[in-house]
Amino acid sequence: MFTRRLMMTFSFPETTRSAGGPIRERRSESPKDDVRETLACVAGGMLRSVPRLLALVDVPLRVGVRRLFSRPVTGSEKRFSVLRVQMVMTDPELGLYQPPAAVRGMTVLERDAFTQAVVVPAIRIPTRVLNRLVKSLKKVALQRPGLKRVVDDDDEGNETAREHRLLLLDPHSIKSAESFGPEEAAALKALGVEPEIRHYRLKLTYENLKSEEVLRAVLPEGQDVTSGFSRVGHIAHMNLRDHQLPYKNLIGQVIMDKNPGVTCVVNKTNTIDSTYRNFQMEVLAGEDNMVAKVKENGVSYEFDFSRVYWNPRLSTEHERVVSLLRRGDVVFDVFAGVGPFSVLAARRGCSVFANDLNPESFRWLQHNAKLNKVESKVTSFNLDGREFIQGPLRERLPDLIKRSGTSPAVHVIMNLPALALDFLDAFRGLLRGETDRGPDGSILPRLHVYGFSKEDEPERDVLERAELRLGTLLKGRCEVHMVRNVAPNKEMMCVSFDMPRDVLYGEDVAEEGCSEEPSPKRLKHDETQE
Ligand SMILES: C[S@@+](CC[C@H](N)C(=O)[O-])C[C@H]1O[C@@H](n2cnc3c(N)ncnc32)[C@H](O)[C@@H]1O
Repeated sequence: MFTRRLMMTFSFPETTRSAGGPIRERRSESPKDDVRETLACVAGGMLRSVPRLLALVDVPLRVGVRRLFSRPVTGSEKRFSVLRVQMVMTDPELGLYQPPAAVRGMTVLERDAFTQAVVVPAIRIPTRVLNRLVKSLKKVALQRPGLKRVVDDDDEGNETAREHRLLLLDPHSIKSAESFGPEEAAALKALGVEPEIRHYRLKLTYENLKSEEVLRAVLPEGQDVTSGFSRVGHIAHMNLRDHQLPYKNLIGQVIMDKNPGVTCVVNKTNTIDSTYRNFQMEVLAGEDNMVAKVKENGVSYEFDFSRVYWNPRLSTEHERVVSLLRRGDVVFDVFAGVGPFSVLAARRGCSVFANDLNPESFRWLQHNAKLNKVESKVTSFNLDGREFIQGPLRERLPDLIKRSGTSPAVHVIMNLPALALDFLDAFRGLLRGETDRGPDGSILPRLHVYGFSKEDEPERDVLERAELRLGTLLKGRCEVHMVRNVAPNKEMMCVSFDMPRDVLYGEDVAEEGCSEEPSPKRLKHDETQE
C-alpha cells in the first residue's frame, strides 16, 4: 500500500532549540495525531542545535494534508512555522530512503539532486561499552552504503556528550524502545544502557543509496527498474527493456558508480542469434574497451567480449563436466568458444582437441591456452563442427578406441545448445568400414551434448531429439542434467551417453548436413538395450 510522504521544513525559535529532554516515541490513535506527535517530539528534544529541520512523515493517502494542520500541533504550535509541505508518493519498502521527488524523469545523472535530510532513530551509548553494545545491536543498526552508524553526540549543552556516542538505528526495525528484541534488550540491560530512542538528522546522499533505489526514484513510477547485469571482467552487461531505454546512459552510469571494478557498461542490442553466439552491444557508460580479463574455476581467460561468446553463468557447468575427466583422458571440444572447457580440461592433464568456427574465438582460445601454459596440451581448429567431427575427430578415434581398456577415456563436448543435437547425425557410420574395432568392451567416446528445451518435460524432449538424430534409443543408458533455466519456460539441458557402437560402425550414414529428422520408425534398438 502506498503512503503519502510529507516533507516539512520548520524554523525553530531559540526557545525551542534549547528545550531539553530526550524524545520518547508515542503511539497515537490516528495518523493525524501521529504527525502532531512527531512534530511535538521534534520540538521537545530533537536537533536542538539545528536552526532548521526537515521532517519526513509518512501518512496513508486518505489523510488530507490541509486537515493535518487544521488544528494546532500539540503544545508547540506557536513555536515553529511550517515553511514547506511537499507530497511524495513513497514505496513503504523504501521508507526513509526514497530520494527527493525532483529526480523523477532525470536522464542525465545529477548526483547532488539526491541529497536529502532524513530523521532516523538513534540510541545514546556510553563510549566505555560502545564496542560491546554495537555488536549486540548489529541487527537493528542502520546499514547504508558509505554511512557511519556510530556518530558523535553533538548535544552541545550536555557535558557528558564526549563520553557518549550515538548508534544510528534502522527505522524499519526500531520505532520505539519496545522495538528491541529480547536479546538486544538483555544486552542493553546488562550494560546499563537505557533503551531510550532519540532522533538523529542525517544527510543522505547519492553515495548512500543502492542502485535500485536510485533507479526506482528516476524511472517512471510503477515500471520495472530491474538493474540486473552480468559481470564479465570490467564489463557490466545489461539487457534493458524498451521503457528503460530513454534512461540508458543514466542507468549505465549508476551501475558503474555502484559497482567497484566496473569501468564499462554495455547493453545488448540484439538477441543472441548470430552464428557465433556473440551479442551486438552498445556502450552506455565508461570506457570503450571490450577486451575482458576474467577468472573462472581458477583459470584466467582473456577475450574480446563484443566478438566471442562468454557466459559467466556457465562456470558451474564447465566445472561439473571437467570434474568427470581424469588425467590423460582425451577431449574433443566441438564448440569450444574461447576455451572454458578445453583449457580447464588441459589444466587437469587431459589432451584436448578444441574447435570453433568463429576465427575470433579460435584466436582467443589459442591465446588462453598459452596464457595458462597448456598450449602443448591443446590442439585447436577453426572448422565447422560437422567438419571437425568428420575430420580431426574421425582421424584420431580409431586409435583411441583400440587403445582403450588400458588407456584413457574419450569425451566429446558439444556446447551449442541451439543446434548441437542436430549435429549428432555426423556420428552415424563415422567409423563404418573400420575393421579393427578394438578389444571387446573397449570404451567408446562419451558425449556431453547440450540442448535448449521449451517443453514441459525437457529431459524427455532433449533425449528424444538426440535419439532421432542418432537413429537409436538411448533411454536407460544416458544421463540428462538440467544445466540452468535460461528464460521463463526455457531450460538448458545436457545429455551424456556413451556413443552406441551400432551408430559409430553402422551402415546407416546420414547425408552430410542432413536437416531432415529421421522417422521414429527407423529407430534401431541396440542389442545391449534391455
Ligand atoms: C554456446 S557457445 C559455447 C562456447 C564454450 N564452449 C562455452 O561453454 O562457453 C557455442 C560456440 O560455438 C561456436 N559455433 C557456432 N556454430 C558453430 C559451428 N557450426 N561449428 C563450430 N562452432 C560453432 C560459436 O562461435 C560459439 O563459440
